[in-house]
Amino acid sequence: MKGKKSVISRLNKLLVGELVAADQYFVHSRMYREWGLSKLYERIEHERQDEIGHADLLIGRILFLEGTPDLSKRPGPKVGKDVPSMLKADLDLEIEVVAELKEAIAHCESEGDYDTRRILGKILEDTEQDHTLWLEQQLGLIARMGLQNYLQSAAGDIAQGAS
Ligand SMILES: [Fe+2]
Ligand SMILES: [Fe+2]
Repeated sequence: MKGKKSVISRLNKLLVGELVAADQYFVHSRMYREWGLSKLYERIEHERQDEIGHADLLIGRILFLEGTPDLSKRPGPKVGKDVPSMLKADLDLEIEVVAELKEAIAHCESEGDYDTRRILGKILEDTEQDHTLWLEQQLGLIARMGLQNYLQSAAGDIAQGAS
């Protein structure tokens, strides 16, 4: 089915966003692992897999609409230096993706492309209710309990001496 160019170009922009997020989570998760922050590693590795799933949905939709996946404008990830700056960089990216998704959903609505809108709605739910919310909660926890306590809990079993 031939899709509207304006819809395909938005899907490509969203695809780039998902893959930048996947790259960023990939690097950040490995940093957490290196530092022994096993709970953060597991969570962020899981987010990375979610982003690949979102990218998969977008590529599938682009191909279905007879478009070409275009990654030529893919920027690099923003890699933080410590836990708070890494969480903040991830949150900034998720907020950007939420705004792009909402704009694309409104566009699909105006073009009567309800199937694409439905797919984007699912991605928006994960992005807003899951990723963004979780990152906000972590930054809130750091603010309330202090970074040292947060890091201790983020290290999980390792900090408690379990093997
Ligand atoms: Fe995503
Ligand atoms: Fe996300």
